[in-house]
Amino acid sequence: MHPSRRPIIGGNWKMNTDRASGAALARQVAAGAAAMGQAAPDTVVFPPFVYLDSVAAALAGSPVQLGAQDVYQADHGAFTGEVSPPMLRDVGCRWVLVGHSERRHVLHEGDDLINAKLLAVLRAGLHAVLCVGEKLEQRLTGQTDTINERQARSALRHVEPQDLWRVVIAYEPVWAIGTGKTATPADAQAAHAHIRAVLADLYSPHAAAAARIQYGGSVTPANAHELLAQPDIDGALVGGASLKPADFLAILAAAGAGKA
Ligand code: 13P
Repeated sequence: MHPSRRPIIGGNWKMNTDRASGAALARQVAAGAAAMGQAAPDTVVFPPFVYLDSVAAALAGSPVQLGAQDVYQADHGAFTGEVSPPMLRDVGCRWVLVGHSERRHVLHEGDDLINAKLLAVLRAGLHAVLCVGEKLEQRLTGQTDTINERQARSALRHVEPQDLWRVVIAYEPVWAIGTGKTATPADAQAAHAHIRAVLADLYSPHAAAAARIQYGGSVTPANAHELLAQPDIDGALVGGASLKPADFLAILAAAGAGKA
């Protein structure tokens, strides 16, 4: 992490928890983050849609922010089953994940849809975590930077320079998600540096230097410190370990410690 950028840790709960356990988890994270005081990084939890309201209540008065795991790109209308950016804002969300690899590869979301979702999130005044990352065969054939660059450039199409501060990019190599395999700190750093160079080319060196880029993929308390020590890694997007309060709080502490 670079001292000029405030670290940010996200907990992506995916399709886990129920109403009671989600609220309990949120209360534990809120209490732990509050106990860290000024040393706490920016912290966001992303519960399932149906528990956003109860988690919002559990987080009331806490510095921990609320995010949604997905969104639809229209504000309202005949889109059965979908959830809009104003609805998310209405239940207290500040953040939305866009282009998570499970949405890209399990739900088959393409670059154009991800671009439309990102623009809709920003139009609604929300903040986005835009996820990018290569699959294993792409890494093995030397395409990591090409894939990240394509995903970042296409998702950011028509995103105005003055809105870029509301976009955090999460580099999540697909092969590292939920597998217990983590990118080496050096490999993750190299991917982050390339993404930052893409932002410099798309916007400006100044905007790129201010942008926050998180690493995601099997982040645990055991590897968080070393990953977060890399100069272009500004935080973590955590899946499995975000469901365990002690682990998630230890990752928050690693981000806080790295900042000092
Ligand atoms: P894991 O931490 O479970 O690998 O998940 C990472 C992720 O996909 C976060 O969005």
